[in-house]
Amino acid sequence: MTTQSLAPFVRVQQADMVFTTKQGKFPALRDINLDIARGEFVSLIGHSGCGKSTLLNLIAGLLRPTNGGLLCDGREIAGPGPERAVVFQNHSLLPWLSCFDNVMLAVETVFGPRESKPRLIERTEAALQLVGMGHAMAKRPHEISGGMKQRVGIARALAMEPKVLLMDEPFGALDALTRAHLQDELLKIVAATHSTVVMVTHDVDEAVLLSDRIVMMTNGPAATIGEILPVTLARPRDRVALAEDPVYMHARKAVIDFLYTRHRHGESAAA
Ligand SMILES: Nc1ncnc2c1ncn2[C@@H]1O[C@H](COP(=O)(O)OP(=O)(O)OP(=O)(O)O)[C@@H](O)[C@H]1O
Ligand SMILES: [Mg+2]
Repeated sequence: MTTQSLAPFVRVQQADMVFTTKQGKFPALRDINLDIARGEFVSLIGHSGCGKSTLLNLIAGLLRPTNGGLLCDGREIAGPGPERAVVFQNHSLLPWLSCFDNVMLAVETVFGPRESKPRLIERTEAALQLVGMGHAMAKRPHEISGGMKQRVGIARALAMEPKVLLMDEPFGALDALTRAHLQDELLKIVAATHSTVVMVTHDVDEAVLLSDRIVMMTNGPAATIGEILPVTLARPRDRVALAEDPVYMHARKAVIDFLYTRHRHGESAAA
C-alpha cells in the first residue's frame, strides 16, 4: 500500500518533442524528466512558447514524443484516454447542447456501457453541483458567462473521474475576481476528490496557491525543466492568510527570480 502510493503515477522519461514544420525540424522540448505522485498538484510555468502546452499534450496523449516515453499508472501513454481528462483554456463546450448535456455526453462515453441511465444522470448533476453550476444545467453555453463555461468544462472533466486532471491555463481568459473564485473552488474540489492535477499557468500566484510542486521551464527552442520548486504550505490554503506568509512569499520570489532574472524571455536557453 505504502510503496504503491509512493510509486510515481505519471512518469515522463527523457522525452523529446521535435515538430516537423515546413521550415524543417523544430525542437520544442528536450530531455524532459518528471515524476508525479498520485494526488499531487503540479503546475507547469514558463514564458510563452516554451512548451508548456506541448508537455501537457504529451501527457494527454494528444502528441507522441519523438524520443523517450510517458507512463500513467504503469502503462505507456499511447493516445488520449478518459483516465486523463483535459480542460482547455478556451472551454470547448458544444454550443448546441445544454450544460447538462455537455457533461452527460462525457459521462455516457465513460460510464454508459456499464451503468443505468439514472446513475448517469446522478453523476452529471453531481459534477455540475460540485462546481456550483447546479442552477444553470439547462442553459446553453451562449447563455452563460466565461467563468461559468469554464466551470462546466471542469465539471465535464471531473465527471469522467479521471486518474489525472490536465488543465491548460484553465483560468487564463477570466477576469481577476472570477479567477480567484474559481481557484478557491478548485482548491476545495481537489481536496475533496484527491485528484492528481497537472496545470499549465502563466500566473505565479496561481501556481504557488494551488501547487505541491512548481515545474519551471527554460525558454525554447529545446526547452527543458530548469528547476522544480516544492511548495510546502499546509492545506487547506487560504489566499488572504497566505498573502503575508513568509513561506508563500519565499516561493513566489523563487519563481519570479527564475522567470525574470535567470530565464528572461528572449534569451536563449541553449547552454
Ligand atoms: N504543432 C506544432 N508544429 C510546430 N511547432 C509547434 C507545434 N506546436 C507547438 N509548436 C512550437 O513549439 C513551441 C512550444 O509551443 P507551446 O504551445 O507548447 O508553448 P506554450 O509554453 O504552451 O506557450 P503559451 O504560453 O504561449 O501557450 C513553440 O515554439 C511553438 O511554436
Ligand atoms: Mg500554451
